[in-house]
Amino acid sequence: MINGADPLAYFVFDKEHNHNLLAVKELAQRCGYTVISSDLVASYPNAIKIIFDNGQWRVHLDNSSAVVSVDFSDPRFYARVNSSALQGEYVVRAVLGRKKTTQPLTVLDATAGFGHDAFLLAAAGCQVTLVEQMPLLAYLLEQAVQRARNSTSDLLLSTAQRMKVESANSVILMQQWSASRPDVVYLDPMYAQAENETKRGLKKSAAVKKNMAFLQRLTSHKVMTLPAAQLEHDQNCHDVLNSEGEGMIEAALALAKSKVVVKRAPGAEWLGGFKPASSLTGKATRFDIYPVS
Ligand SMILES: C[S@@+](CC[C@H](N)C(=O)[O-])C[C@H]1O[C@@H](n2cnc3c(N)ncnc32)[C@H](O)[C@@H]1O
Repeated sequence: MINGADPLAYFVFDKEHNHNLLAVKELAQRCGYTVISSDLVASYPNAIKIIFDNGQWRVHLDNSSAVVSVDFSDPRFYARVNSSALQGEYVVRAVLGRKKTTQPLTVLDATAGFGHDAFLLAAAGCQVTLVEQMPLLAYLLEQAVQRARNSTSDLLLSTAQRMKVESANSVILMQQWSASRPDVVYLDPMYAQAENETKRGLKKSAAVKKNMAFLQRLTSHKVMTLPAAQLEHDQNCHDVLNSEGEGMIEAALALAKSKVVVKRAPGAEWLGGFKPASSLTGKATRFDIYPVS
């Protein structure tokens, strides 16, 4: 045991390689979590289990058998990428638009989440920077991109080569941006609306529910464990689930060279009240498009 004093501590252990405590400690330190040993887990009902299993970290949500991981080779997701239907994906249509460019578009995905939209965009030829504020999720993304780069599938490999992950608050990152500006900024701060959709009786898939539960667990842990001063600083983590990513669209509109694309639930209000020039609406999602030039 490294430290078991905090009842809200995260529980990080390595099923296959219990001797690999160094890797566990490094991951915990990077994410700002405490490590406790498996024999103490019963005393820590709020702990999250992170298990290194079959070559990758998987997060086990408590009180359920749900396991969360980031894996671009998952057959259901891979089938979407490895298909002629890729160009018809709403996110691809919204970001690429009709204009044909000779240079690949550079895209900043400022709310990377589980990286699915970013991967679809990279598979369609974009150079994508993924920014995720939750350190654990950013780490899972990085690992997934790395595994894809080592894959025997040319498609996974070449797509992952167009992806770069950053663990940061994208609003701050966009406000302090000094590199060359991305063509497109893509935003999907959507889970708060997903909650509302459920209240309105609209169904979410089991996978989306599981991923939401995961983000909620990470967010509430973070909020409960942080000292007050840091809490105020990190309040926007909490806002992601409870409000609408304050300042995000303003920062995105100031940074993007060509356009900002925002993913919303159909029927949801415009992000920050900003009216888009156009929208692409599917059954489950709407993509609001804001040209900036
Ligand atoms: C709905 S999920 C995005 C899902 C993603 N489009 C996908 O395809 O998997 C929203 C994500 O944005 C992240 N997020 C929200 N605000 C952020 C910010 N200011 N900086 C970085 N990440 C942020 C949240 O932590 C969450 O993981």
